Amino acid sequence: MLSREQVQELLLRLGDPASGKSLLEMQLIRDIVVKEDKVSLSVITLDTRDDYKQALEAEIRKRLTEAGAGDIHIRMREANEHERARATGEDSPEIQEAKLTKGHAAGLEKNELLSPDSGVHFIAVASGKGGVGKSTVTVNLAAALARQGKKVGLIDADIYGFSVPDMMGIEEGPEVVDGVIVPVERFGVKVMSMGFFIRENNPVIWRGPMLGKMLHQFFDDVDWGDLDYLLLDLPPGTGDVALDVHQMLPQSKEIIVTTPHATAAFVAARAGAMALQTNHEILGVVENMAYYQCSSCDKRDYVFGRGGGGQLAETLHTEILAQLPLGAPDNHISEADFSPSVYKTESESGKIYNELAQNVIKKCEIN
Ligand SMILES: Nc1ncnc2c1ncn2[C@@H]1O[C@H](COP(=O)(O)OP(=O)(O)OP(=O)(O)O)[C@@H](O)[C@H]1O
Ligand SMILES: [Mg+2]
Repeated sequence: MLSREQVQELLLRLGDPASGKSLLEMQLIRDIVVKEDKVSLSVITLDTRDDYKQALEAEIRKRLTEAGAGDIHIRMREANEHERARATGEDSPEIQEAKLTKGHAAGLEKNELLSPDSGVHFIAVASGKGGVGKSTVTVNLAAALARQGKKVGLIDADIYGFSVPDMMGIEEGPEVVDGVIVPVERFGVKVMSMGFFIRENNPVIWRGPMLGKMLHQFFDDVDWGDLDYLLLDLPPGTGDVALDVHQMLPQSKEIIVTTPHATAAFVAARAGAMALQTNHEILGVVENMAYYQCSSCDKRDYVFGRGGGGQLAETLHTEILAQLPLGAPDNHISEADFSPSVYKTESESGKIYNELAQNVIKKCEIN
């Protein structure tokens, strides 16, 4: 049986032909009600051509039928002036209201961060497969860049599968000051994650399960301050969020994470291919869980095979930036800076992350 959220997911990427924006996010697909296998919804069209309206209705029916809906009821009508103005404005009504009532922090111009001359280096960390260590690499690269004196932000763009707060041992949520969200700082890294808002059951501006919108709000409604680097931990694969990031941040660079296993590298190549298609520069490949270093001898065991990272780098015409060994961080619960996934700077992995950070700085800042 379909849920309302699934219906929203299915229709999220249907775009308005003029602006390319999601009809759902513009609230032009609304009133979704799901009862057993019956789905009813309203579609408000900005485009008045009959063939467009018919094609849109047919597409919605097709998507819902394929997903298992039986009885589908679609009400179509053209937008009135008010709806037209609202749909072409930038903010959802909730955000507009929040900004009106709470005021907006001085100096935080909308999308300032996203403008090509903001001077911020965006780095998205992607992979084809789940569980290869994207989040681990993202948090440790962020911490290592901060150790190099850089001002670093981290967006946990894995909206559903957020893991960054737990991995970094963050227990508190962000504060909202004058309608602007202040990111939580840990190991010198400013962090924003959906996890904060689920835990905190937080403000009205986060209502609604619209992934793309959430991601936009991570940029628009968060006071990032001055940043040198903003890292994005992407969800696995080449799904909607990854695409949103590609479209929202044409200037973003990418790091692709893989394990040394040949199939993982093969799947990761798809994520890389998407980066290339969207003209994102690939900084390089990080091979995680590359080997196991025996603690009592010099021997390295290549537990997950060998060569996946190199093979992937070759496919993507790039290089290996780092190879990380297997092994969890050696952090003890009693320590004040406990975090399950951040390696200490003096540990073997910590040193490799420091080198990775230097490598990244070189690639981004010295051209
Ligand atoms: N080098 C490593 N040695 C040992 N364990 C590791 C290593 N890298 C990651 N892990 C562990 O593997 C698991 C998956 O890592 P992580 O969550 O970083 O992957 P991911 O690619 O972000 O996963 P997802 O696709 O679910 O977001 C975690 O439990 C993490 O602690
Ligand atoms: Mg992850």
